[in-house]
Amino acid sequence: MQLKQIQAFHAVAKSQSFSAAATTTGLSQPTLSRLIKQLEEQIGAELVDRYHRPLQLTEAGMFYFEKSQLLLAELDTISALTKRMAHPPKTLSIGFVPSVLYGLLPDIIALLKQQLPDLEVQLKDISSYQQLDALKSGEIDVGFGRFAQQDEWVRQILLRHERYVVALPAVHPLAEVRNLRLPQLADNRLILYHQTHLNVADASLAGHSNIETEPLLNLFARYGAAPFSTTTVSDLQVALGLVAAGEGITLVPDSLKILRGQQIRYQSLLHEDATSPIYLNTLAQMTHPAFEHFLETIYQVYEHKGITYRRQSL
Ligand code: BEZ
Repeated sequence: MQLKQIQAFHAVAKSQSFSAAATTTGLSQPTLSRLIKQLEEQIGAELVDRYHRPLQLTEAGMFYFEKSQLLLAELDTISALTKRMAHPPKTLSIGFVPSVLYGLLPDIIALLKQQLPDLEVQLKDISSYQQLDALKSGEIDVGFGRFAQQDEWVRQILLRHERYVVALPAVHPLAEVRNLRLPQLADNRLILYHQTHLNVADASLAGHSNIETEPLLNLFARYGAAPFSTTTVSDLQVALGLVAAGEGITLVPDSLKILRGQQIRYQSLLHEDATSPIYLNTLAQMTHPAFEHFLETIYQVYEHKGITYRRQSL
């Protein structure tokens, strides 16, 4: 069995057409057809149902597609990491979720640049879920995210837990009430902004519901409460825009309470475990040459600001 046969099968399966696959691969249709036929013969099963339009996969073909996709992704990762080994990156590319931008990220970058003036730094706005692929492809060298994830290629270092605060419209009856409990908020529309849909494949494969995977709903459920209704938006800025417009409430990490101070009141929650983690994501092997220094810089900023954190030794 040859890699080019599997790649030909994937090109046809993805585009559901021999002619479209010929364009993307640069191979002729007869060549694609021959490679797939050889693959089918070697496996001993028909993979492509050639009699329907658009072309479909047989049940065996769907199984083979799904399983071999993991193999091809793994091979891509191995190739990207091998290239990285031969050509270590000179720039430090840092992925981040928007919510950390309003916290300590600018201070950390400023201190790093002061300590390592020759290091080139690049910042990329990239969701927690997409950071894993970005690390494996070499698009980023480190990432700051908010979700715990499992991937044998990636190491996650938990930096700290940040308390959630409640964002309420300034005219809301609870706008001036401190130390709120989640059940007190149950009569409200909760604006959800975490990009959990990007992890839908993993979540649905594992049989998880939205309540289990959406952090804010999960938090409410832990206190035996559920919001009256929910609205899902694309990001945190939009969520705060809707709160400002009186469309509902949301929970945000404490460092965001500097935003929209005119229209929004931020109140603390009584629950000490209502927190959002901050992870530093990096490759399990072959970390960037400046990685250890970078982690130390983060700890220095925490110490300078008197922030409680969890130090990890490498
Ligand atoms: C923090 O708030 O702890 C943090 C923010 C950005 C990057 C790293 C840490």
